[in-house]
Amino acid sequence: MKAEIVAMDETKLDMPALEKAGEILRKGGLVAFPTETVYGLGGNALDPQASQKIYAAKGRPSDNPLIIHIADMEHLSAIVKKVPQSAQLLAEKCWPGPLTMIFEKADCVPLETTGGLESVAVRMPSNKIALEVIRQAGGYVAAPSANTSGRPSPTLARHVIDDLADKIDMIIDGGMTDIGLESTIVDFTEEIPTILRPGYLSEPMLAKIIGQVRMDPGILAADSKTRPKAPGMRYKHYAPKADLVIVEGDLAPVIEKINSLTEEKLRQGSKVGIICTEETKTCYPKGVLKSIGSRASEESIAAHLYQVLRDFDQEEVEYIYSESFQTPRMGQAIMNRLLKAAGHERINV
Ligand code: TXA
Ligand code: MG
Repeated sequence: MKAEIVAMDETKLDMPALEKAGEILRKGGLVAFPTETVYGLGGNALDPQASQKIYAAKGRPSDNPLIIHIADMEHLSAIVKKVPQSAQLLAEKCWPGPLTMIFEKADCVPLETTGGLESVAVRMPSNKIALEVIRQAGGYVAAPSANTSGRPSPTLARHVIDDLADKIDMIIDGGMTDIGLESTIVDFTEEIPTILRPGYLSEPMLAKIIGQVRMDPGILAADSKTRPKAPGMRYKHYAPKADLVIVEGDLAPVIEKINSLTEEKLRQGSKVGIICTEETKTCYPKGVLKSIGSRASEESIAAHLYQVLRDFDQEEVEYIYSESFQTPRMGQAIMNRLLKAAGHERINV
C-alpha cells in the first residue's frame, strides 16, 4: 500500500497531519479526504499535471471535468470570469455546503482540470477537514469523488482504500460522510440557471432563493436520447457488479414482485440480493437482504445508497432487486443515482 492513512474527527482536527496533506498537494501529489457529500480525491487544481494524475488514478476519461474546491469566498473571483448576481446569492445561502456552481473559467485554470471546457465547476464544502485541507493546499483543490471510475462513490474511507490505496499519497479517514450523495450542480453559463445533477439541495429549495431555475432535460429523460450536459452524467455510473433492477409501484405489489423474481432466480441457482428498508425487511423470506435506511428518513436512504451497492459487490450476488425511493425532497437525487446504477432497468407493477 502506498497511501498513508490518517484518521481524525471533524471536531478535533489533527493539524500536523493536515499540514502534511497540504504539503503533498502543493508538491503535486494526491490526497483523499472526506466532504459532507462523499469522499473526494484531491489534487492542486491549478497544476495541470496534478489533474492528469487524478484522471490516471481513477481511470477516468480526461474529458470529464473536475470540480475545484475552495474554502474562502475571496478565492472564487480568481478562477472565474464573472459571478452573476443570482449565483452570488446562492453562494451566500448555501456555501459552505453541498452545492457546485459552473461559471466561465479564468485563464489561470488549466484545461486539464476542466476536461477541455471553457467553463469551471466550483464548490465550497462544509466539512471542516475538507476546508482545512483546501486552505493548507493553497486554496484550490480539484476533487472528483474518490472512487475508481464507474464504481459507486465512496462514503467511507474503507471504500477509498479499496479503490485507490496503492495509487495515491494520503487518505484522511473522517468517518462516514453525512449526506452520501454528490453535490447539486447548477450551471450559471446558461441563460436560466440549470441543474445538471440533482442532490441534497432540490429544485424547489434553489428556486426559493434565486427564482427561476430549470432541470437539465438530459437528466429528466428516461432514455439515453437526450444527453445530459455534465459529461459525468452521461456514463453508466455507480455500477454494481450484479444486474440491478428497480421495481416501482405501490409497496405491496412491489414486495410481491421482488419475492417472485427472487424465487425464480434462486430456482435457477443464482445468488440474489434485495435492497429493502427498515419497514419492509421482514417481508422478504429469501435472498440476501440489505436495508438501505428508513422510509421515515430520506436522509438515511441517501446516506446508505452507495454503501449498500458496494456491500453487494462483496457478497458476489448476481442479481439485485431494489424497491424504489421516490421520497419527497431528495427522491429525485436518490432515484437518479439508483437508476443510473441499474442502467435504467426498471419494472413497473
Ligand atoms: O459532492 C461532490 O460534488 C463531490 C465531492 C468530492 O465534492 N465531487 C464530485 O465530483 O462528485 P465528480 O468529479 O465525481 O463529479 C463532478 C461532475 C461530473 O459529472 C462532471 O462531468 C461535472 O461535475 N462537471 C464538472 N465540471 C463541469 C463543467 N465545467 N461543465 C459541466 N459539467 C461539469
Ligand atoms: Mg464521481
